[in-house]
Amino acid sequence: MISITDLVVDFGAGPVLDGITLEAPEGSMTVVLGKNGSGKSVLLKTVMGLVRATAGAVRVAGADPAGLLERPREGVEMGYVFQKGGLFDSLSVFENIAFPLRRRGMEEDDIGAAVVSILDRVGLAGSGEKYPSELSGGMQKRVGLARAVCANPNVVLYDDPTAGLDPILSDSIAGLILDIRMNFRATSLVATHDLKTVEKIADQVLLLYGGKIVFQGTKEEFFEGSSPFAQQFCSGDPEGPIDIF
Ligand SMILES: Nc1ncnc2c1ncn2[C@@H]1O[C@H](COP(=O)(O)OP(=O)(O)OP(=O)(O)O)[C@@H](O)[C@H]1O
Ligand SMILES: [Mg+2]
Repeated sequence: MISITDLVVDFGAGPVLDGITLEAPEGSMTVVLGKNGSGKSVLLKTVMGLVRATAGAVRVAGADPAGLLERPREGVEMGYVFQKGGLFDSLSVFENIAFPLRRRGMEEDDIGAAVVSILDRVGLAGSGEKYPSELSGGMQKRVGLARAVCANPNVVLYDDPTAGLDPILSDSIAGLILDIRMNFRATSLVATHDLKTVEKIADQVLLLYGGKIVFQGTKEEFFEGSSPFAQQFCSGDPEGPIDIF
């Protein structure tokens, strides 16, 4: 479903991504790890068509993601959870979530039902009339998640979906990510720092460092294998192949 070949992204100060090759089959859950600034968000944005590849190829269901963003193709619905929520401040929670549904021409009654249902699912029942500025960071995050998944996407890119959430809510969001994958056979890429989430949801784990994939494998290989990069990332040890700065 997602196919990346020799991807290079360079904003002019040297490559942020430097030869990334990755296959995410339909329905798979790939978790992208890496220290701050390692290019996780840039990778997700490139798959969404928000950042242009400097070199290499990115295909989503065989198509250029930038094109998919401009004219959504039948059969490919993409959702994106922004790292910082990405909500429209001047719109209520309800209107934020309804926004992509309206663009798709959904009937008003169906929009109402879909928004109520997803708000309930993310633990925000009854918050539809509030504005983003009235919500805590964790609540804004959940509204962003609800907006990304309410149109039943079959490709979902989650940028740090549990950042700033308490452990119980993080676990429930990880459960929601699994449900979305199950219900829609959604192919998911998840950038995170949360190792509990990795343990709960990942099929495939990638670790980015220096613009490259320095570890790629199952979560069992990640947590129990002999990769010095994976071991250092899990333990948080300052000594190892990953420079702390
Ligand atoms: N639009 C842009 N223009 C120039 N540089 C950028 C742009 N977007 C990202 N970068 C740079 O690319 C690098 C990777 O950033 P990115 O946001 O992908 O990191 P990240 O792995 O998501 O980090 P974090 O864990 O903090 O979210 C950083 O050095 C950042 O400054
Ligand atoms: Mg990021």
